Amino acid sequence: MKNPPPKGLIRNMVSLCGIVMAAFGFVAGAGLIAIDIQTHFDNPYTGIFTYMVVPALLAGGLLLILLGVLRERRRRTRNEAACERLPVINLNDRRQFATFVTVVVVTLLFIAISVVGSYQAYHFTESVEFCGKTCHSVMKPEYTAYQNSPHANAGCTRCHIGPGADFYAKSKLNGLYQVYSTLFNKYSRPIPAPVHNLRPAKETCYTCHWPEKFFGAVELKRTYFRADEENSPWTIQMLLKVGGGNPKHGHAQGIHWHVSGRNKIEYIATDEKRLEIPWVRMTDETGNTTIFQTSGKQLTPDQVAQAEIRTMDCIDCHNRPTHQYPSPERVLNTALANGVLDGGIPDIKRNGIEALDGGYATEAEAMEAIRQKLADAYPEGGPAIEKAISTIQYIYSQTIFPEMKVSWREYPDHIGHMITPGCFRCHNGDHRDAEGRTITRDCNTCHSIIAQGPGRNVESISSGGLDFQHPEDIDEEWKETRCDECHTGVPVL
Ligand code: HEC
Ligand code: HEC
Ligand code: HEC
Ligand code: HEC
Ligand code: HEC
Ligand code: HEC
Repeated sequence: MKNPPPKGLIRNMVSLCGIVMAAFGFVAGAGLIAIDIQTHFDNPYTGIFTYMVVPALLAGGLLLILLGVLRERRRRTRNEAACERLPVINLNDRRQFATFVTVVVVTLLFIAISVVGSYQAYHFTESVEFCGKTCHSVMKPEYTAYQNSPHANAGCTRCHIGPGADFYAKSKLNGLYQVYSTLFNKYSRPIPAPVHNLRPAKETCYTCHWPEKFFGAVELKRTYFRADEENSPWTIQMLLKVGGGNPKHGHAQGIHWHVSGRNKIEYIATDEKRLEIPWVRMTDETGNTTIFQTSGKQLTPDQVAQAEIRTMDCIDCHNRPTHQYPSPERVLNTALANGVLDGGIPDIKRNGIEALDGGYATEAEAMEAIRQKLADAYPEGGPAIEKAISTIQYIYSQTIFPEMKVSWREYPDHIGHMITPGCFRCHNGDHRDAEGRTITRDCNTCHSIIAQGPGRNVESISSGGLDFQHPEDIDEEWKETRCDECHTGVPVL
């Protein structure tokens, strides 16, 4: 043999470091993955270590080995011009054969582990733990609200990524930027909504719900507690005309008419939160289009041409299907209605709201101040007061997140119209078409009140729909003024 293959190329510092690194990565990775398959990590950092740091070590180690070999070869051949460019492998040589078999086996094992590992890594980066807990302080509001919501078992990715590799890749690229902005404290507080790159609802919500499935009406019964000394209850019971229906079996109707069949509603919002909607275009089942505009803020054709026209989908009403931050007034009504908070404590509704809505800078400060304010309001103390204090502190921790500046004020919910403009963004009676017809504000279009009045239980008197009775005498104001101009989530008076 003219040129015996160079031996021991691997015996150099760089390759040796690589071997140590790769061996560590290999053993640690195999062990950790085996543990995860058996017990499932719920700590995101263990997951990040197993599926990101360890594989990086392994791959880095292998690269170093290769680099070392190449360097060593270059060093040795610098003076031997005659040497072939690539090593000659002779499988009849027993030592070379053994090396060859080892390399093949290690490579196959590496590939096998990578397959299992990347499958696990895929699942891991899709898990609620990864999305909700990794940057704990940033995602705390969304994660907490999610856990209290009807979608608590849906998983973040079912709404935020949806099926398919393209959105998976997109979301991970986007995620890299998020990691950067978290590390360098560059993210905005609160995180801006609406989410502009949210995947269209057809590809997310529709995997579990679709308009053809909705039918008829759902009953809504709410008890409100006034901000008076007795925390007087007032109950309203109504049928919400959810509607929808399959256009194949007839005309779609009711609330889900907007997203049924061939109906299309498009709109232009002039503010970032999509609360001001001066322009609406409706295309009905037969293809006729009608444009509605508010008289106050008519857009010029130029402005319309330049504006972003959005087609209404689920998110334009259900913008808070899972990240719900109810107002103090709402949560206290619920707590009083189901008895978690004792309605026998005088003025607890008003005092509770005042304790919650203190403009605190941190959660710790809020906890302390809530205790202080309520202790001052009820100097006599006692177990009922103690329980009220801890309940209200708990309510705060679940609904208001001062570090991220998150509360009901920042994230208005578009369902309904009492404390946010919601449906009245379009249905306030001031959007007109060319012939002067308005988008309806008739109270019976969307719901029929079947019972209302003081107390926790009111006799159901009508199935046809009662005229609304405003609990406080404000004349006919509620017929003209938007409810949310007086009701803001804290007491009106
Ligand atoms: C039922 C569907 C759904 C699930 C499940 C869900 N989200 Fe969301 N999320 C939304 C929608 C819809 C928005 C957009 C709201 C908007 O555009 O106004 C949103 C917005 C967000 C925002 C932007 C800030 C905000 O509150 O609007 C963050 C951050 C977020 N989600 C994180 C998460 C995390 C973390 C999880 C899992 C713990 C999760 N989401 C689960 C539907 C969902
Ligand atoms: C993984 C399946 C899944 C996905 C995806 C999903 N949902 Fe849901 N949704 C559910 C389940 C389960 C419920 C609870 C049903 C129940 O309580 O009877 C629910 C309940 C709801 C409710 C009723 C809430 C209530 O208070 O009772 C609304 C509204 C809703 N989803 C809207 C949405 C919207 C909007 C999206 C898309 C952003 C979405 N969902 C995506 C599974 C899903
Ligand atoms: C025009 C506003 C609007 C649009 C658009 C809309 N919804 Fe709804 N949806 C409502 C209202 C209002 C309710 C009544 C329940 C409530 O008040 O939360 C409701 C109820 C629901 C419910 C509970 C139904 C039940 O029978 O309890 C689900 C699930 C739901 N919507 C999903 C969707 C999905 C998915 C889309 C998109 C295809 C969608 N909605 C589009 C306004 C809307
Ligand atoms: C972007 C504007 C817009 C928003 C927001 C909006 N709607 Fe509508 N809605 C329309 C238009 C346009 C029509 C058709 C004109 C009409 O019927 O007056 C309509 C019609 C309806 C109808 C009658 C459907 C039928 O049976 O013919 C109902 C019910 C309804 N909306 C409920 C709601 C509810 C509930 C909300 C809030 C959760 C809401 N809408 C939010 C634009 C909107
Ligand atoms: C475009 C549809 C629509 C119209 C028009 C409408 N409402 Fe509503 N209203 C809703 C929806 C949807 C809800 C349920 C909100 C929820 O689930 O929290 C609601 C809730 C309510 C509630 C319960 C308040 C709450 O949020 O707890 C009252 C009271 C009410 N409506 C009164 C009226 C009156 C009075 C009118 C007429 C001036 C009216 N509504 C017109 C859609 C409508
Ligand atoms: C001019 C201001 C004003 C307008 C507009 C208004 N309200 Fe009220 N509302 C009040 C006052 C004041 C109270 C009594 C508050 C209290 O006792 O805590 C009240 C009380 C209520 C209550 C009893 C629960 C509570 O918060 O005390 C309900 C329910 C209610 N209003 C619904 C509505 C609805 C729905 C609309 C729109 C259709 C509306 N209001 C419009 C001023 C208004």
